[in-house]
Amino acid sequence: MDDGMQEVYRAAESASRVALASPVYFGSLTGGLLDIMSRFQRYFKEGRNGVLPRVGPQKSGAVILTAGGSGGCGAENAERQARIFMKLLNVAEPVFITSYQTDTVSAIEDREAVGKAAELREKWLAEILR
Ligand SMILES: Cc1cc2nc3c(=O)[nH]c(=O)nc-3n(C[C@H](O)[C@H](O)[C@H](O)COP(=O)(O)O)c2cc1C
Repeated sequence: MDDGMQEVYRAAESASRVALASPVYFGSLTGGLLDIMSRFQRYFKEGRNGVLPRVGPQKSGAVILTAGGSGGCGAENAERQARIFMKLLNVAEPVFITSYQTDTVSAIEDREAVGKAAELREKWLAEILR
């Protein structure tokens, strides 16, 4: 199918960094994001004996998740989904930046999450500009 995914495949096959961001909906990454992730099925054809294929070069990766169910209701499932996808994208150890109390503290006011995101941005920028 020739659609916007061609650009996503090209990026996955050439990028050296990837960030995945989603709110937790119904204990899951959002349906829209799962739709895009499911389009990576084309790479599974290349996998052998149930071994997860690896797309593109080894990358640095970040997973940014928000959840509002008092501490992240079902967030562990979203984290598991993100981990599998990061592995597929050839990310060994993704950094997780989470804000799991958006029902009481909005993500932008979550000092720890915002601090971690700023730290990662600085690190990646320094690497890119080096
Ligand atoms: C359809 C829907 C389903 C949701 N499901 C969950 C859930 O399963 N667990 C959870 O912790 N939060 C859930 N939330 C809360 C979202 O994660 C929350 O809206 C998101 O973190 C963004 O925060 P904000 O709405 O304050 O901007 C859900 C929100 C919506 C709209």
